[in-house]
Amino acid sequence: MFLPQEVIRRKREGEALSEQEIRCFIAGVTDHSVSEGQIGAFAMAVYFQGMNLDERIALTCAMRDSGQVLDWASDPLPGPILDKHSTGGVGDVVSLMLGPMIAACGGFVPMISGRSLGHTGGTLDKLDSIPGYTTSASESLFRRVVKETGVAIVGQTGELAPADKRIYSVRDVTATVESIAMITASILSKKLAEGLNALVMDVKVGSGAFMPTFEQSVELAQSIVQVANGAGVKTTALLTDMNQCLASSAGNAVEVREAVQFLTGEYRNERLLEITMAQSAELLVSAGLAGGIEQAREQLQSVLDSGWAADVFGRMIHGLGGPSDFVERYDDYLPTSAIIKPVYMEAEGYLAAMDTREVGMAVVQLGKGHTVASDTIDYGAGITDICRLGDRIDPSRPVAMLHARSDASWNQAADMLRGALTVTEQVPQPHSLIYKKLS
Ligand code: URA
Repeated sequence: MFLPQEVIRRKREGEALSEQEIRCFIAGVTDHSVSEGQIGAFAMAVYFQGMNLDERIALTCAMRDSGQVLDWASDPLPGPILDKHSTGGVGDVVSLMLGPMIAACGGFVPMISGRSLGHTGGTLDKLDSIPGYTTSASESLFRRVVKETGVAIVGQTGELAPADKRIYSVRDVTATVESIAMITASILSKKLAEGLNALVMDVKVGSGAFMPTFEQSVELAQSIVQVANGAGVKTTALLTDMNQCLASSAGNAVEVREAVQFLTGEYRNERLLEITMAQSAELLVSAGLAGGIEQAREQLQSVLDSGWAADVFGRMIHGLGGPSDFVERYDDYLPTSAIIKPVYMEAEGYLAAMDTREVGMAVVQLGKGHTVASDTIDYGAGITDICRLGDRIDPSRPVAMLHARSDASWNQAADMLRGALTVTEQVPQPHSLIYKKLS
């Protein structure tokens, strides 16, 4: 007989749980026969005792199977099903380019994304700045757009990994979020429910990263790679730098604008280009769409140069309800802020460090409503033209442009941004852009 308290006791004592025990516990979470108190106790036991690889795989698969798993076999797609996931960052707009680039190279990307969390931006909030675009598409529309254009980016429905939703809400209020085993299962249960053949994971490192230290970022990346491969999805992970804003902009509409400019070739920030290329190339190789990383990069460059990736992006936007000429006329459609002004610093020297978490909080501050919680997000708000580590700083050169709805909001964000930047007399040592690859 299955008794949740017995499973919790065994985990509390540091014993390894069987696949059957984990499946029963997650089934109980899903049908609510396991209480919130029991979920909290289980999460705390896992937090302290951890889980071995077999347990993590069993937990991930049980959570994946707690809801709908997309099945592409009944109406097969003529190419591999691929996706990426990032642990979140500031100015991390990679998904908006990677999806169309992979689609243009023959992959299919049914990307189910999330919203902003804390200081990090969310792909869905960015897409919500496009008039008409629906991030809550029906399953049939989602499938049709994936099939016809090769990529669709939408939000999670209640039917996808419902056990994760319940467990996460308990972890959030019981100080048990920071468990590698549970973060792994939480992230992967949702991604693997997309019915993928291959996945690339971007685990951020640095002042704006979700994991607080390099060692913990490595540990999470290792766990995700081992569990996802163990669950049958070919997965690699890149540990990438989040010691500064990744793109030149951070916000919603401002990042969409940068993504379109990237795809059309109008403007490409080199750091963003390198990270997007590296992740996309991993996916093409994992899926067998390219023989090696160099070949993959050539294919990706060619779909950028030919405009094919930009065309796929435009068709995805239109397929999900946005304007048919969005790529051509993005500036006519994207919202802007009332106040757009440069920020200066008094210091002179080189930009040596950026508290990227604080920069993300400045973006959150700019985007939020006036006073009450029901105020809507200001999609036009954000930061553009942000300086980079190593840049020469002086009082006559703006460190960024701030887009705000009011002077008060602008002033507050400007103070936060200035406080997040460290200027020194010496030229700083550059950080690596990609620290490590795990496969
Ligand atoms: N993101 C998730 O989806 N789950 C976690 O547990 C942490 C980050």
